[in-house]
Amino acid sequence: MYECHENWTFIPYIKHYNAVCYANKEAKDQESFYQEHKVINMESPYIAVAPMIDWTDRHCRYFLRLIAPHIHLYTEMITTGALIHGDRDRFLRFDKAEHPVTLQLGGSSPEDLALCARMGQDYGYDAINLNCGCPSDRVQSGSFGACLMKEPQRVADCIGAMINAIQIPVSVKCRIGIDDCDDFSFLNKFIDDVSNAGCQTFIIHARKAWLKGLSPKENREIPPLQYDIVNKIKKKHGKLNIIINGGIKTIDNIKEHLPTLDGVMIGREAYQNPYFLTDIEKTFFGNTDILPREDIARAMIPYIEEQNRIHGTPEKSITRHLIGLYQGQYNGKKWRRALSEHRPIPQALESVMQIPPSL
Ligand SMILES: Cc1cc2nc3c(=O)[nH]c(=O)nc-3n(C[C@H](O)[C@H](O)[C@H](O)COP(=O)(O)O)c2cc1C
Repeated sequence: MYECHENWTFIPYIKHYNAVCYANKEAKDQESFYQEHKVINMESPYIAVAPMIDWTDRHCRYFLRLIAPHIHLYTEMITTGALIHGDRDRFLRFDKAEHPVTLQLGGSSPEDLALCARMGQDYGYDAINLNCGCPSDRVQSGSFGACLMKEPQRVADCIGAMINAIQIPVSVKCRIGIDDCDDFSFLNKFIDDVSNAGCQTFIIHARKAWLKGLSPKENREIPPLQYDIVNKIKKKHGKLNIIINGGIKTIDNIKEHLPTLDGVMIGREAYQNPYFLTDIEKTFFGNTDILPREDIARAMIPYIEEQNRIHGTPEKSITRHLIGLYQGQYNGKKWRRALSEHRPIPQALESVMQIPPSL
């Protein structure tokens, strides 16, 4: 798909979240090339699967990568406390097939976030994202997530500390507002303050969050989507990368946003109906090498065996992420039931391969 001049090398390179650039072989390094030529190939749109706790763990990301080679992946939110005091390797290790993959951090101490951002860089993540959008009680009690939107200067300090500590890009994921702080000037000030600290990329979930009275699930459903506010932010901050999130479920939804914004992030639809990502691959990346569902399922078998052998990971911890693979297909329910009953993939495939009686 990408054409290279013979003196140029094609390298996948994540810079400010635009996926691909061409680097001259003679350039000393990517950064100096960047400064000299300022070339980013924008033919590759930024499309990402959202960070989702308990869902986008490394097994899920490995599976999604088999389906969609061009899409950006995010970890679940990992708190600074977990990384500093817990089993760091368990939280951070990932398969190199997952690239490009961004580590999402939850925290509010600049020092801790800088330390954890460095850990993420050392583990090989492509970028770091700070969660300023999660409204759960647990996260609020730690004074991070969405409640940080009320403290833009603190977020700016956190971002500044992370940027100073690492060389990979740092971004923020936020809401359009929280509680009664939901007018445009509130969000605009947040973006102003945080971008002044060096953040170039904002992923904006186009809903406000209520910190009291709504569960996290309700906070993803009840506050209305307001895409116009995200577009207004982009108009005001044309140089920033503004990526929109919330309620994106179809190719047409994506086409609606890409002309005016810098990218889209898809959450629930990507998890519940992962084969949808193949439509994205075909439409936006010209990918004609799409694997059938069965091949994707079979390709997970050696991975499952390896994870079990090396880390003792139970098969069901991995196959639970495959439950949506046959979403909307004949026998899709049988597939779901087989995996829910923890049957191995070959057996689950047998049930799904049964021919419809009408044929
Ligand atoms: C199960 C689940 C877990 C989530 N965990 C996170 C998280 O760890 N970090 C985060 O920023 N957002 C999290 N979210 C929110 C999503 O990233 C996304 O913003 C939200 O689902 C809206 O996008 P959608 O309408 O495409 O699903 C989570 C959402 C779900 C459904």
